[in-house]
Formats: sequence, structure tokens, C-alpha cells
Amino acid sequence: MLMVRVLFVCLGNICRSPIAQGVFEQLLEERGLSDQVSADSAGTAAYHIGELPDERTRANARSHGIELTHRARQVSAADLQAFDYVITMDKSNYDNVLKLYQTAGGKAKALLQMMRSFDVSPDDVDVPDPYYGGAEGFEHVYQIVRRSAERLIDYLVERHHLSPKQV
Ligand code: 4NP
Repeated sequence: MLMVRVLFVCLGNICRSPIAQGVFEQLLEERGLSDQVSADSAGTAAYHIGELPDERTRANARSHGIELTHRARQVSAADLQAFDYVITMDKSNYDNVLKLYQTAGGKAKALLQMMRSFDVSPDDVDVPDPYYGGAEGFEHVYQIVRRSAERLIDYLVERHHLSPKQV
């Protein structure tokens, strides 16, 4: 069975990319696609390696029925070989991942895209970093990644001719 692998990337891997991964996995489950698409997340920075997502991210996720248990890790050149898609939260993450392609050389296969290129109502190209703000920033991030993840899944279904598993 074909497995499409998607990696979500932000700076710290404790706020935006873990909730993007969690929402994406929840939607895959709802749409019967969990056996055909898998997800992970990572950060460009090393500050929070090994940590659970930020308490505010986990509280927001919980309010939407999502339990986040991911442990932060740093993105590497090997990820560009292992994943089919790398989806970054903002332009700065995008530029940092782009540099990793030089290290990966010809072995890289991942297609690099920005999360909000899938957003139907983008008021900005970036998913804003909520780290230094209040709780409303985390809900704003949730709404953006939820909208974007829906369209990303539509895109993958079309591109890879996926069909929901019948239950
Ligand atoms: P994230 O948010 O990139 O969405 O995980 C941040 C987390 C931590 C820091 C910055 C952004 N930090 O500076 O520690």
C-alpha cells in the first residue's frame, strides 16, 4: 500500500507544527485516509528538542479533541529523503529548509511547500508565531492550520489518487 509521508516544520516544533500535525492526523482519520497518508513534525531550531508541545498549544488542541504527544525534534537533510512533502509554517522556516537541500544533494525527494499556500482565506503567507502572544494567538493558528490541512488533504487525494478506506 502506498504511504504518502508529510512533515510539518516550524521553528521550535512546540507550537505550530505539532498542532498542524495533530489536525492533519485527525482529518485523515475522519476521512478514512490514515492507512495511506502519515505525518510527523520537526523544527528548524534545536532549542526544544525532546519537549512536549507548549502547554498553551496542548490546551488549545485538547479543546478541539486532539491530544498532542509529539516530542520536539530538529529537521535534518535525511528528512528530505524520507518524506514526500515538507510543509513549512512560515517563510523563514522555508528558507532554512531550503538550505538543507544543498546538504541532501541528489538524494532529496521531498517537495517543499508553505502551509498557507493551501489556505482558502490567506491574509498573510505565514502561519503567525504564537509563542510570545496570548491564548487567542493559539486559536488563530488552529483555525489557519485546520483550513489549510483540509485543502492539503484534497490536494494529496487528487495527486496520489487516494480513496477513503470503506468501513
Ligand atoms: P513554533 O513557536 O515555531 O511554532 O514552535 C516557537 C517556539 C519556541 C520559540 C519560538 C517559536 N522560541 O524562541 O523558543
